[in-house]
Amino acid sequence: MDFGATPLDGLLLPPRVTICEVGPRDGLQNESTVLPVGVKAEFVERLVDAGHTVVETTSFVHPKWVPQLADAEELLRTVTPVPGVRYPVLVPNQRGLDRAVDLGVRDIAVFGSVTETFARRNLNRTVDESLEMFTPVVARAREAGMRVRGYLSMCFGDPWEGRVAARRVLDVAIRMMALGCTELSLGDTIGVATPGQVVAVLDALVAAGIGLDAIAVHFHDTYGQALANSLTALRRGVTTFDASAGGLGGCPYAGSATGNLATEDLLWQLHGLGIETGIDLQKMVDTSTWLADRLGRPSPSRTVTALAG
Ligand code: HMG
Ligand code: MG
Repeated sequence: MDFGATPLDGLLLPPRVTICEVGPRDGLQNESTVLPVGVKAEFVERLVDAGHTVVETTSFVHPKWVPQLADAEELLRTVTPVPGVRYPVLVPNQRGLDRAVDLGVRDIAVFGSVTETFARRNLNRTVDESLEMFTPVVARAREAGMRVRGYLSMCFGDPWEGRVAARRVLDVAIRMMALGCTELSLGDTIGVATPGQVVAVLDALVAAGIGLDAIAVHFHDTYGQALANSLTALRRGVTTFDASAGGLGGCPYAGSATGNLATEDLLWQLHGLGIETGIDLQKMVDTSTWLADRLGRPSPSRTVTALAG
C-alpha cells in the first residue's frame, strides 16, 4: 500500500539515510528460540535482497555469554556475501577480533557502556577496563583498514543508575573516538529516552567536534519513544539509524530492554517524509512475518501487523 510522501515543510531533512539493520545480531541475541544457522543465513540474505547495505550479522563474543550467537563462524561461512554490502559483527576483545579476521571480516563494532553497572554486567569490566580491552582491538582493526563502530550503551538511562547525563556520554564518546573508532552508535539500551535528551546528547557531541556523519542512533522501543527519538535525531542532522527487522531485539544483560526500533516502522515514517532508504518495505514485512513464524511469536512492529498478509 502506498499513501505517497509529504515532506515536512520548512525543515531541512536529508534526502537519503542509511539504515544499519541489526536484526540478525541485536534481534536474535535475546530470543529464547535459537534458530538453525540456515534460517539465520536466509534471514541475512532476505534483508540484503530487500535493499539493506549494512547488516550487522552476528557477534564474536564468548558463546557462554550469548549462546544464541554461538554459531557466528558457521553463519559467516554460510552467508553468500553480496558485493557492496557490509556485514559488520560485534567484537569485544582480541580473541573476538582473531575469530572475525580469520573469516575475512572487514567491519567490526566494539561495544562500550557509559555506565559502570552495565559495563560490569555486559563485559565483566569497569568502563576504564573496557576501553583498555578495546584499545588493541581498534588499533589492529584500523591498521588493517577496517571500519570500526563504537557502540555506547546506556546513553540516556540505566536500570541500575537511573537517568544518564549528556556529559557522561560525551566523556566516553570522546575516549572511543580517540581509540580510532570511525563511527559511534548512541544506544538507548532500555528504551527510556525522550526527544529532549536526544537533542542534549547530540548537541554535546557536535559541540565537542564529533561530526554528525560519524554518529548513528540506536533506539530500543520499550516505552514507545523510538520513532519520536529517531525523528528528533533526523531533524538534528543524523543520517545513520539502527533498526531491527520486525522490532526484535534486547540485551540479555539489561533485563528491562525490549525490542529495537522496528525497521518497518522507521521505513513507513522515512518514506512518508519522502526520504530515500533504498529498502523495500513490503519485502521487509514479508521477511519479518516469515521470521516470526520461525520464532513462534508475532512481530511487535505496528507496521508489520498492519501490512502483513
Ligand atoms: P570474561 O569472562 O571476562 O572473559 O568475559 P575473559 O577475557 O576473562 O576470558 C575468559 C575465557 O573466555 C577465556 O577462555 C577466553 O579465551 C574466552 P579460557 O582461557 O578460560 O579457556 N573468551 C572468548 N571466547 C570466544 N570469543 C571471545 C572470547 N573472549 C574471551 N570473544 C567477555 C569477557 C567480553 C568475553 C564477555 O563479557 C562477553 O562475551 N560479553 C558479551 C556480552 C554481549 O554480547 N552482550 C550483548 C551485546 S551488547 C548490546 O546488545 C548493546 C547494543 O545493542 C547497544 C545498545 O542497545 O545499547 C550493542
Ligand atoms: Mg541494542
